[in-house]
Amino acid sequence: MKELTIGYEKPLVSHINTVFRSPTFVQVMGPNGVGKTTLLRTIIGVLRPLKGRVLVDGVDITGNPEKAGRYVSYVPQIATYVLNNIFPVTVWEFVEFEAWAYARRAGLRKDDVVKLVEEVLEEVAIPRDLWGRSVGKLSGGQRQRLLIARALLKRTPIVVMDEPLSAIDIEGKSVVASIVSKLRDEGRIVIVSCHDPELLLEKTDYIMLLGYGEYVVGKPEEVLRLPILEKFYRGSLVEHGKHIHICDYHM
Ligand SMILES: Nc1ncnc2c1ncn2[C@@H]1O[C@H](COP(=O)(O)OP(=O)(O)O)[C@@H](O)[C@H]1O
Ligand SMILES: [Mg+2]
Repeated sequence: MKELTIGYEKPLVSHINTVFRSPTFVQVMGPNGVGKTTLLRTIIGVLRPLKGRVLVDGVDITGNPEKAGRYVSYVPQIATYVLNNIFPVTVWEFVEFEAWAYARRAGLRKDDVVKLVEEVLEEVAIPRDLWGRSVGKLSGGQRQRLLIARALLKRTPIVVMDEPLSAIDIEGKSVVASIVSKLRDEGRIVIVSCHDPELLLEKTDYIMLLGYGEYVVGKPEEVLRLPILEKFYRGSLVEHGKHIHICDYHM
């Protein structure tokens, strides 16, 4: 990200300059409404920044979702997506539809597509007996994993996920956490926006904390310090014994 200013009519965060090298796992944190989703959608090229550029290996992907899509996959926030989808599409169809769009570009044939869909569904541990079930009947955690499966089809070097740990139970969270760390260990750049960094902290290489117009990026032990958190979270931070609470989130 080079001199990147994200926002809509007005800037949300300005002059972001940062480089991530693979393999790495980055958590994007910050108070609600600060611009986490905006940043992720700018990285995947669907939003044009107010200023600056997003580059992958020197290739400018700014505001170009087609070009960005060669390098970056996106898992949208589930609350704004599948939770509203109660139409009768099966797990298999949901992924297969996307696989075909990719297959045409990549020159894959039917056998390859079937194999690819099987692979990604297995990767996110959705059991076979659910493959014929309609998406609307899955649990929150299963839907989240389905969205991740779909994003894995393209095998891109960068995977971006918007709050993959919200709206799922503890068990679902640990499955998602293990997928995230596996992707990182495979050598990718994984960028995840998150409210609760604790769950994935061990695996986190960098925290990118967004504040009101500002940002800080560094290793977790550099960023998750009281003076910095106080500054970025303002009134929503409460110290409680040895722990720090951010609103209702706990770390
Ligand atoms: N399409 C849009 N047009 C204008 N403002 C928007 C749009 N989407 C989000 N915003 C505003 O931008 C700010 C940041 O939103 P967002 O990136 O979703 O924050 P976060 O993901 O950190 O909660 C919020 O004030 C939000 O209301
Ligand atoms: Mg958001």
